[in-house]
Amino acid sequence: MSSNVTWSPPGIRRPLIGVNWKMNLTSSEASAYVGALLPLVADLVDHELFVLPPYTSIAAVRDGLSGSNVGWGAQDVHPDDWGPHTGDVSAPMLADLGCRYVEVGHWERRRDHNETDELIAAKVDAIVRWGMTPIVCVGGVERMDPASAVAASTASLGRILARRDRPRSSLIVAYEPSWAIGEGAVAATPADVGDVVRGIHAWLADERVADEEPRVIYGGSVDRNVAERLLAQDGVDGLFIGREGLDPGTFAAIAGRGRQESAPDRTLYAEL
Ligand code: PGA
Repeated sequence: MSSNVTWSPPGIRRPLIGVNWKMNLTSSEASAYVGALLPLVADLVDHELFVLPPYTSIAAVRDGLSGSNVGWGAQDVHPDDWGPHTGDVSAPMLADLGCRYVEVGHWERRRDHNETDELIAAKVDAIVRWGMTPIVCVGGVERMDPASAVAASTASLGRILARRDRPRSSLIVAYEPSWAIGEGAVAATPADVGDVVRGIHAWLADERVADEEPRVIYGGSVDRNVAERLLAQDGVDGLFIGREGLDPGTFAAIAGRGRQESAPDRTLYAEL
């Protein structure tokens, strides 16, 4: 790749595999989903798994997943903690529901709600204030070569992460090019994803935006065919699944694709 920044992998990390349900599944369907999912992923302890339901299903998901190896979170948040914002949901409300992750900046929110990087920056601050981990989506709208995708993604991250009200312990960046998302789209090639993700890692390492080295995951038409090749790329810390993850069996099958042959050396995790 043409970027002149370099980055070295930090050693073994558990693959982070999550699903964003978007505006799908009622709360009754959510309970059935997690009931079906848990037995399928019970032995994937060398993975970090999470589910992001719509707000209306977070309590049902929490009830089903508490004490399990699967975390949960939300797809968005309002930047203010309380106040006159009809229809919105705040970070303390999500923290109270046990959310570990909150996604911000998804392409569909930028498109449907005109969200800007400046607004997303304020949301990241709210998430950090309440002890949760932000998942910040970047990736741009146009199809572009990997070096340009790194430039577009890091310019966006620069605007989002420049503001910092308090130290961030953990951060996840999701490289999600909009052209690869949704029905009829296909995933970016594993080689291109590897190039972009390593470029983003290099920028993050230079900027020191969080205490822990941020994880960088890929989302956009992930399915069970491409999952293993994406996870095999140096720097790809995990996958963010959309429509294929609406079925618990498919989510479990995709997560299992990142399975390591032998048990990982857990002493390496201590420093992450
Ligand atoms: P998709 O969605 O897998 O349905 O393309 C991905 C995403 O929006 O993260």
